[in-house]
Amino acid sequence: MSTMLKIQENCVVKLKEWEQRWHDNRIGFHRPHVHKMLESKIEKALAGRTGVRFFFPLCGKAVDMKWLADMGHSVVGVEISEKAIQQFFSENDLTYSEETVPAIPGAKVFKNSEKNITLYNCDLYSLTSSIIGQFGAIWDRASMVAINPRDRVKYASLMISLMANDCKYLLSTFMYNAELYKGTPFVVTGEQVYTLFGEKCDVEKLLSENLTGDRLQAWGVDYVIEELYLITLKMS
Ligand SMILES: C[S@@+](CC[C@H](N)C(=O)[O-])C[C@H]1O[C@@H](n2cnc3c(N)ncnc32)[C@H](O)[C@@H]1O
Repeated sequence: MSTMLKIQENCVVKLKEWEQRWHDNRIGFHRPHVHKMLESKIEKALAGRTGVRFFFPLCGKAVDMKWLADMGHSVVGVEISEKAIQQFFSENDLTYSEETVPAIPGAKVFKNSEKNITLYNCDLYSLTSSIIGQFGAIWDRASMVAINPRDRVKYASLMISLMANDCKYLLSTFMYNAELYKGTPFVVTGEQVYTLFGEKCDVEKLLSENLTGDRLQAWGVDYVIEELYLITLKMS
């Protein structure tokens, strides 16, 4: 394992801490605009299809969900903070219904039927393909990099189980000097993406961009590279 990964391998952020961040409005990860890499590579996710079923692991209140729903795609997200889900619907002027999820004690599901947006309020790891089905696309922004590094194998196998045969999984990652910033987001290297997914999936790096400006300052690092991968199931 590379030194960069070793430094953060035992870092843990508890669910309660994420909920507290939303409570305190410490949500610097939220972006008011559609993510540029998603926008520029949307055709890779759609691959000519219409009405694609998208999964957003750790969705927060990402505006990308509304953007895709407005284009006629359906969206399923999961988020531990109920406040984030409520803010998503209210900030986008969407009404919603609220139900319990019989298969997951304590979980709730919030839905806007008109736009086909369904957001589960529970721990990501309590979801399975028998509860939420499989997806034609996954948009993973600030999710794989936000989960606890020790959970990455479990996370990758959950994602693979949620991929339909034709699924296009777009994964965005960060690399920076982990000696200078402890995360989150945590560093995910290209090598690790290939290790986690390479056995069952084809992995293609679509973009690699050196970020400048506010993020470097906020994290106190000397470089940040954001990368975008396209992950598809290998056809056997
Ligand atoms: C870094 S934020 C990213 C949110 C969103 N993807 C975005 O791009 O704005 C990670 C989100 O995941 C939520 N979260 C963290 N761990 C979770 C888990 N195990 N299950 C469900 N939600 C979780 C947090 O509350 C937080 O909103």
